[in-house]
Amino acid sequence: MGKLALFHLLCGILIFWAVSVVKAEDPYKYFTWTATYGMASPLGTPQQVILINGQFPGPRLDLVTNDNIVLNLINKLDEPLLLTWNGIKQRKNSWQDGVLGTNCPIPPNRNYIYKFQPKDQIGSYTYFPSTQLHRAAGGFGVLNVYARSVIPVPYAKPAGDFSLLIGDWYKTSHKVLRQILDSGKSLPFPDGLLINGQKQSTFTGDQGKTYMFRISNVGLKTTINFRIQGHKMKLVEVEGSHVIQNLYDSFDVHVGQSLSILVTLDQSPKDYYIVASTRFTTTVLTSTSVLHYTNSQTPVSGPVPAAPVNQFQWSLMQARTIRWNLTSNAARPNPQGSFHYGKITPSRTILLANSAPLINGKQRYAVNGISYINPDTPLKLADHFNIPGVFTLDSIRSAPTADSPHLATAVLPSSLHEFLEIVFQNNEDTMQSWHLDGYDFWVVGFGSGTWTQASRKGYNLVDALTRHTTQVYPKSWTAIYVSLDNQGMWNLRSAMWDRQYLGQQVYLRVYNPTASLANEYDIPTNALLCGKAAALRHP
Ligand SMILES: *[C@@H]1O[C@H](CO)[C@@H](O)[C@H](O)[C@H]1NC(C)=O
Repeated sequence: MGKLALFHLLCGILIFWAVSVVKAEDPYKYFTWTATYGMASPLGTPQQVILINGQFPGPRLDLVTNDNIVLNLINKLDEPLLLTWNGIKQRKNSWQDGVLGTNCPIPPNRNYIYKFQPKDQIGSYTYFPSTQLHRAAGGFGVLNVYARSVIPVPYAKPAGDFSLLIGDWYKTSHKVLRQILDSGKSLPFPDGLLINGQKQSTFTGDQGKTYMFRISNVGLKTTINFRIQGHKMKLVEVEGSHVIQNLYDSFDVHVGQSLSILVTLDQSPKDYYIVASTRFTTTVLTSTSVLHYTNSQTPVSGPVPAAPVNQFQWSLMQARTIRWNLTSNAARPNPQGSFHYGKITPSRTILLANSAPLINGKQRYAVNGISYINPDTPLKLADHFNIPGVFTLDSIRSAPTADSPHLATAVLPSSLHEFLEIVFQNNEDTMQSWHLDGYDFWVVGFGSGTWTQASRKGYNLVDALTRHTTQVYPKSWTAIYVSLDNQGMWNLRSAMWDRQYLGQQVYLRVYNPTASLANEYDIPTNALLCGKAAALRHP
């Protein structure tokens, strides 16, 4: 063999090796999903729901960190549709976030192919439809991100892995609920609580073995408490953070949040209640399912385990027990604690106060007095094509004002690589749940009353966890730190969907004046164009 031939052979082997390594670790996964209407009777009476590939809830999406997802979503509804991937950070890629500020909604009988990579995160997540109050009709599902083989997780592989989508539910169709909100009224109290789209399900496991339960609150507006009769729950993961593995009798899960617990079937062989019930509500909705031991002959019995009697204080104390395991790794091999967030001085503080004003005689929800309205052109497209008249950068102040509340397309300007302190100030007497797309953030403090600079003395600057959705207790504040390392246009919103729908949301524009593919991917060639961008063509 000549030198050149040998060289070519070696090159070939190298290329083959490189390609197969890439393939082995970052495989492409293809999905085709069709959204349709269908009938279901989750609360006993038939109602119209949104199906994905005929399923309610939608298909379970089991991914591995760094997988390349190519998902063709076909809209067979009679209304524009978008799915958002709740908690998937969409690194450099807000193009795929699936909210109205970043994407044109998919018109009926059209499709859009999402392309994204769930990078650097391991845990339990969800997806759900983000427009038109579709979420009240279903269309949501489980999105689990598993660790790559090279990344050890801080718990033994469970014998089984159950996902539970829990949420409040209305017998009324999403169109009627939407009309109520559009007419300027708030939503009535929900009719029930569902687990995986059903009033009751059974989860089966072997005595002596340990199972993972992935719990997400996919409801519209109500916190839930989750518990299993006679069993302790070991918390292991919260929205991509591996946490100190404390044992709990029950757990509060606020709207939009997800977590993973391990449960060892260490009791005598019988069936046990799995219970979810609404929290902080005068009427308590309860959903009971069954944990069935394979060797059990005895149906569920005894009192259904009760939720903690104490409400907000209990919940707050529990929230403070959730802490990062500093030595455990996340989706990267280096430990979570190697990022010393508490040693960084935030460059800026943004203070955001929610409110429920009447604007033009209609019920709205607002942030710093601004109740968000969706423009006809996604903000991200306006930014990309330099389309004027869609949004301005002085549309919302970074602290509450005394100005009278009004409607606007609120965009908070920020720069790539800023390190922000954001304080959610809740002067209302209801629970709040705030979500940020594109990021996870450190929840550094909860406190009652009005946040002041002195409140910082109580921050956890050592082992606060990172997550994508945090609760804010009534007449209280929650402070977060966020490292703006992900350029894009990111929705910061109430995870409570009536509030989001009626304006409790803004966009955080994480911007860098020098366009660079190293910071942000280019607009996808298949991006839908609408509004003022409709007449434009892809370059
Ligand atoms: C933290 O993570 C380490 C490494 O995975 C593990 O050995 C340890 O048990 C965890 N500690 C707690 C308290 O959960």
